[in-house]
This record gives sequence, C-alpha cells and structure tokens, in this order.
Amino acid sequence: MFAVTPDPTFRPRCFAIVPCAGVGERAAAGGPKQYHPVAGQALVAHTLSALARVARLDATLVVLSPSDDQFERHVPHFGGEHAWVARVGGASRAESVLNGMDELVARGAQPHDWVLVHDAARCLVEPAWVDRLMAECEDDEVGGLLALPLADTLKAGASGADGAARATTTVDRRDKWAAQTPQVFRLGLLQPALRHALADPVTAAAITDEASAIEALGHQPRLVVGNYENIKVTWPGDFALAERLLRTRA
Ligand code: CTP
Ligand code: MG
Repeated sequence: MFAVTPDPTFRPRCFAIVPCAGVGERAAAGGPKQYHPVAGQALVAHTLSALARVARLDATLVVLSPSDDQFERHVPHFGGEHAWVARVGGASRAESVLNGMDELVARGAQPHDWVLVHDAARCLVEPAWVDRLMAECEDDEVGGLLALPLADTLKAGASGADGAARATTTVDRRDKWAAQTPQVFRLGLLQPALRHALADPVTAAAITDEASAIEALGHQPRLVVGNYENIKVTWPGDFALAERLLRTRA
C-alpha cells in the first residue's frame, strides 16, 4: 500500500467567467446594455475593473457574442496574460457560460479548479464581496452564490381582463432569497451540471443562473449574504441608478 502524501503547495486555481453576450432587450438602450456609458465608461468596464482588483482570481475570461465588434473599443485596456476574451456566446446566458468553460478547459483549467461566474451587467460589484464569497466557499463541497433574503412581499401576478397587471396570490417570502452573482463552483461540477440542464429544452428555460443547474442535480449551493448595491442593470431606469451609486464611490 502507498501512503498518498498531500502536496502542501497544491492550490486549485480560480477562473472568472463574465457572460457578456446578451442583447439587453429589457434595458432598451438601443444596443447591448454592457456597452452603455455609465459614470464615464462602458458598463462592463466597471465590472471588469472591480474583478481585476480581486487578488484570489487567477484569470478572467469575458464571453462575447461571435458578432461583437464593440468590446475592444469600449474596454481598450483589457487583455494580457490573465485577461482573456472569447467570442463564443450562445443563445442563452447558460450556453454562454458553458461555452466559456470549454474555453477554460482548452486553456488548461482542471476539474478541481473554481469557476466564478459574474454577470457583465452587475457593474456595482465590489472586490470585497467577491472575496468574501470565495472565502466562505473555499472549503464547501458544493460552492455557492451571493444572495439576499427577500425583503419585499412577493406577489404572483397575471394580466387581468382589463389588461392591467394584477396580483393573484402572495407567495410566502420567509424562505426566499434573491440570487445575485458572483456564483462559484468547481469546474468539474458546474460543467456537467450546465451540460445536463441544457440537454433538455424544457429544463433549459428554467436555468437562469449557475446555482439552478447545480440544484437540478440535487446539490444545495451555499447562500452567502450579498449587498443591495449589487444590482443587475436590467431596466432603462437602472442606468441612472448605477451611475448615482458609482459616483458616490471615490
Ligand atoms: N448573457 C450572455 N449570453 C446570453 C444572454 C445573456 O452572456 N445569450 C449575459 C448578459 O450579457 C449579462 C448576463 O448574461 O451580462 C445577465 O443577463 P441579462 O441581464 O438577462 O442580460 P441580457 O440577456 O442582455 O438582457 P435581456 O434579458 O433584457 O435581453
Ligand atoms: Mg437575458
């Protein structure tokens, strides 16, 4: 029998994937929202500069649409040994992330490495929040995500006979959390989870974040309390809100 001595210098790496291949339909900004100017820069430039200040990240991969011809113009300083771009975006966010993971594998990522996924559209993320998520998940079997216990009362809604939106029921909010990004999982868990979820078009539609694909396999991602400012710029009014918040940060 051999005794396997653990290598004390072994450390899994952590790669960030930033899905940035959406069209921004709900934001109605006349183009992909990630390039809309906010506080003097394209929205995604703020996101990437926050991630660049997270020391625990070994590299960041931005996933763009195959037809993207704007990224380099809006984020001219992104690049180099630890800042990668791949034009492999898919039809859904989940597909973009899965394609991004294939790219990481082609660049040498291993199953035990961590993949931290963060929406390009969450430009208010702070390095300290990313760091806290990674620290809290470091020894977790599954991985986890930033999320907030739901504060508002939650309504199910439907379109009434008069065309107005109407509340049909109130959903018990006591065990509900609003999921944010970043979300961090081992490559060897997240890649098959997303592949499995996307194989069936019915389940694929419900996979709106990484954690939902992990849950579909029966695992329970860790919920790490996030921050109210970590909004996902989604609606037209969100650009002005993001701008106000960014301008209050020195
Ligand atoms: N995203 C992606 N590939 C897609 C769809 C979305 O990489 N096929 C990215 C977006 O660029 C964004 C993040 O996933 O950074 C979160 O998605 P969302 O806020 O829904 O952005 P959009 O899909 O662009 O917006 P909408 O749903 O309003 O069209
Ligand atoms: Mg979308």
